[in-house]
Amino acid sequence: MTNTNYVKIFDTTLRDGEQSPGATMTSAEKLEVAHHLARLGVDVIEAGFPAASPDDLEAVRRIALEVGNPAVGESDARVPVIAGLARANKSDIDKAWEAVQGARKPRIHTFLATSPIHMKHKLKMDPEEVVQRVAEMVAYARSLCEDVEFSPEDAGRSDPEFLYVVLGEAIKSGATTLNIPDTVGYTTPDEFYRLIDGIIKNTPGMHDGITISVHCHDDLGLATANTLAGIRAGARQAEVTINGIGERAGNTSLEEVVMALKTRHPVFGLETGIQTRQLARVSRLVSNYTGIPVQPNKAIVGANAFAHEAGIHQDGMLKHQTTYEIMRPEDVGVNQTRLVLGKHSGRHALRTRLAELGHSLDEVELDQAFTRFKELADRKKVIVDADLEALIADEFYRPRDVYLLNDMQVTCGTMGMPTATVRLRDQTESSTRKPPSAQAQWMPRIKPSTASSTSRANCSSSTSMPLPKG
Ligand code: KIV
Ligand code: ZN
Repeated sequence: MTNTNYVKIFDTTLRDGEQSPGATMTSAEKLEVAHHLARLGVDVIEAGFPAASPDDLEAVRRIALEVGNPAVGESDARVPVIAGLARANKSDIDKAWEAVQGARKPRIHTFLATSPIHMKHKLKMDPEEVVQRVAEMVAYARSLCEDVEFSPEDAGRSDPEFLYVVLGEAIKSGATTLNIPDTVGYTTPDEFYRLIDGIIKNTPGMHDGITISVHCHDDLGLATANTLAGIRAGARQAEVTINGIGERAGNTSLEEVVMALKTRHPVFGLETGIQTRQLARVSRLVSNYTGIPVQPNKAIVGANAFAHEAGIHQDGMLKHQTTYEIMRPEDVGVNQTRLVLGKHSGRHALRTRLAELGHSLDEVELDQAFTRFKELADRKKVIVDADLEALIADEFYRPRDVYLLNDMQVTCGTMGMPTATVRLRDQTESSTRKPPSAQAQWMPRIKPSTASSTSRANCSSSTSMPLPKG
């Protein structure tokens, strides 16, 4: 089993992260995020689940071609592996291969559940059938692609003895990465450590060419702790997402694992290839594109992660930064302004500062940004980095508007039913509008009152609904 002091960072923001409720990104946005992940230094980008839809396949294919190949004159060394997810069946595997094969380093990631609950209720398969399917499908994937990853889904609730058998078959059939998912975020760090340790020690055929990977979900708020426990036990790949976005409570957060390994280097003695100074910027980019805000107290990238409010803390910070800070904000890209921009600054100064912040704009984009910058500088004396980041986010990373709020009226009082009437304009083409039932999904928490609900022509609709009490 691979046992170096390097931990590969496998980013699944574009696959598991995109499965967060409401996190859907357009193909262009996914491509942009993939470029930024590559610059951040991730080792593997799981670009999507190609069998999910033709659009998903196309998005993965473009990422494989454009991000998974070196630019002219660039070496292969930092080109990320591009992975596509596939269930353990031929059709999914074919689609994953079709999508990733244009990458310099393609990977097929296939999975099948191994917990008694999943085998019985979801797959309706016997354990023997599961073992056989894994052997066949890993071998099939390997016949197409040299780099095959296998995940026993819901490993956290699987019988370890059964896992050793399944994983042994996966190795025999050609898998080179064995990923151990705590799919439902159920395990504790001690348990997860023992699970990984047991797999490394007991899986037949385990050898130096195999990488053990960990993939945790955060249902009990233990994803980062479990991932680090797995790494301590010998895993050398961590599957993570930017801002920890993902199914339900999310996945392990990339920035937390990377900064824990870096800040507590004496404890772990391990390295990653992540350019940590880009963490804050990539976090903002993903938040803007997905529309999922980062909670202010989120470790590493939250707005308050380096803010000190209490008098005692401020006093300590003024005496020495290390009194209350275990990391330097600039190490994660939370910058102190070094160059102050104002209304006399020119395009060159703006371009230079934006490049330092990691934004390389073409001439047209720079013109747009410069116009916005001048407008702002007329109103605000000093433009700091946060202003520039907000300007860039607003100008270039704004998620596509789907609905526009045309007008809103709220009626309430001590008698009768309080109601709200809203009129929305569907910004997508009128010919592609969804039927009314699908349109109503944007307001899942409040039932429309059928008595007063109306619909207006011209690509907009209004609905009155009772307001919740309290
Ligand atoms: O959580 C999970 O089990 C997964 C697998 C597909 C790896 O996301
Ligand atoms: Zn997952």
